[in-house]
Amino acid sequence: MNQIDTLQTEERRYPPPPEFAAQANARADIYGRDFDELWRTEAGRLDWLEPWHTLYEWEAPYAKWYVGGKLNVCFNCVDRHVEAGLGSRVAYHWEGEPGDAETITYADLQRRVVRFANALRELGVRKGTPVAIYMGMVPDLPVAMLACTRLGAPHTVVFGGFSADSLSSRMNDMGCEVLVTQDEAWRRGTTVPLKRTADEAMAVAAGVRACLVVRRTGGEVPMTDGRDRWLDELDVADDPESCPCEPMDAEDLLFLMYTSGTTAKPKGIVHTTAGYLVAVATTHDYIFDLKADRDVYWCAADIGWITGHSYIVYGPLANATTSVIYEGTPDFPDKERWWAIVERYGVSILYAAPTAIRAHMKWGPEHAGKHRLSSLRLLGSVGEPINPEAWVWYHEHIGGGRCPIVDTWWQTETGMIMITPLPGVTTLKPGSGTQPFPGVDAAVYDESGNEVGPGGGGYLVLRRPWPAMTRGIYGDPERFQQTYWSRYPGIYFAGDGARIDEDGDFWLLGRVDDVMNVSGHRISTIEVESALVDHPAVAEAAVCGRNDALTGQAIVAFVTLKGGHEGSVEMLEELRNHVAEVIGPIAKPANVLFTPELPKTRSGKIMRRLLRDVAENRPLGDTTTLADPTVVEEIRERSTAGGPDE
Ligand code: WT7
Repeated sequence: MNQIDTLQTEERRYPPPPEFAAQANARADIYGRDFDELWRTEAGRLDWLEPWHTLYEWEAPYAKWYVGGKLNVCFNCVDRHVEAGLGSRVAYHWEGEPGDAETITYADLQRRVVRFANALRELGVRKGTPVAIYMGMVPDLPVAMLACTRLGAPHTVVFGGFSADSLSSRMNDMGCEVLVTQDEAWRRGTTVPLKRTADEAMAVAAGVRACLVVRRTGGEVPMTDGRDRWLDELDVADDPESCPCEPMDAEDLLFLMYTSGTTAKPKGIVHTTAGYLVAVATTHDYIFDLKADRDVYWCAADIGWITGHSYIVYGPLANATTSVIYEGTPDFPDKERWWAIVERYGVSILYAAPTAIRAHMKWGPEHAGKHRLSSLRLLGSVGEPINPEAWVWYHEHIGGGRCPIVDTWWQTETGMIMITPLPGVTTLKPGSGTQPFPGVDAAVYDESGNEVGPGGGGYLVLRRPWPAMTRGIYGDPERFQQTYWSRYPGIYFAGDGARIDEDGDFWLLGRVDDVMNVSGHRISTIEVESALVDHPAVAEAAVCGRNDALTGQAIVAFVTLKGGHEGSVEMLEELRNHVAEVIGPIAKPANVLFTPELPKTRSGKIMRRLLRDVAENRPLGDTTTLADPTVVEEIRERSTAGGPDE
């Protein structure tokens, strides 16, 4: 049975536990709140240097929120909490991979951020200077981001698993002048040479004139005179007065987060200051039922993705949350690691990806069983559809049957969670994101733009602006218009399929475009294809995602080699590694199938749908539009020979 069939027969219901409902931040009447009133009131969570005068201005596809307001993000996330007497509250319990740990209070965080900001100033960073950050999950990553916001310098954080090419293309696109990185990162007991990769990237990113390096492993790394500086060798002050928070306009650029689309070039998704911060703080509070003075919150994502930006850094810190940050992976040094962390810090809220939950499910509940998980009171899921089996396992074996699960649908572009249950209010259905967040106008449309009623399926759209919505694709307004706003004029097209059930609850069905979702990471088929054809032996390549029990989707590549090259096991490994080098290990195909030809329409378009049928062993769909219908049968015969699929 495929995912859609499973969802259609899912009948389990989990009403809110009365004890949870009695103390919940969200009450049922939140859905009745007037849109303007809601976002006016929630803006009061922040400290403003100058009040805004207009809630929002909307000229599709561009919104402005809290127009006229001035504020500083770092001040709202750090300084004001210290000023309010919360300096001794823990901001982050940091757990390092080899077992080292650090506890950082809000007062500590303030000093570290100020020091970091002064270091950036020493390197010439001023309001408006674009800064790239290429780091692992170390405390200085959120510190670097906050330091940028303190100075009013927009940042782009590039996931530490990306290649030199991926890093340089992002830095060049944004025009970054300064790069922050670390010597090396820890990963499964070995080191990852971030600074060395950063050097390769800087060699082709001429605009980067300075590099600030944080020491993590203490490994030897080359330093270029006049460009590279160690953070710990800079003699800079850490008292807040030495580096005041820059007043920023509500619509000033806060950061870019690059994400894969349906072309080879990643898109720089623009997020601005005030609307983003109000929205991530508000959603974090209601959706995670945050009790800032007691909860220990752990979002097990990487800060290098939007989930980490919104729900490890900006939302939680704006709400003065105590969070856990974990540097490593779930199964190193053993499969109990996560549960030992939950027990050690008394984690009460856990937010994780379905792919991780499915891995734990595969390893068996005995690992979690060895630890006290009774501190947990709420669970979350994000990044891809969660299959009901994984949902129920999470509920029983991790949540002890008592914790509501919030299955949160959103995107890099939306900035904030858009479709989600509200814990204590919503009756949960395993596999359903249930309802749009209050004020979010989500709907399902058919091909011709008619709204689909209960029981129907189609494309997910968003019809009303929201404060954290992207302000566009950096430097490419046409692509922004084309990608999201042209299928249904003036309405946001998310790129996801969705179904709406008889109760009006939403069921997210995955991407409908040429974007794959591997372990909750968005990867473009075309990006992987261009990495493959970049290899000298490859003539042509077509890539698709096939269902995978663990990672949601797995990447399968169909490759035609140039004359003189043989499709061997060695070639297969070489191509997989080549993709890892060009993009990053997350984009490595699970399998590569060599074929003398690719299935194309008579106009020369590769039929990816047919390749997916082959990859998933389905009967072949319509092949009548193919230039040569025998090609697919031939590919199918060859593909049964199999590949590595580790
Ligand atoms: C795509 C966005 C912001 C979350 C991290 C990924 C898929 C995300 C869910 C969910 C079903 C989901 C969608 C979306 N997705 N959350 N709860 N249920 N699908 O952010 O890299 O921008 O990817 O992830 O397909 O379009 P992203």
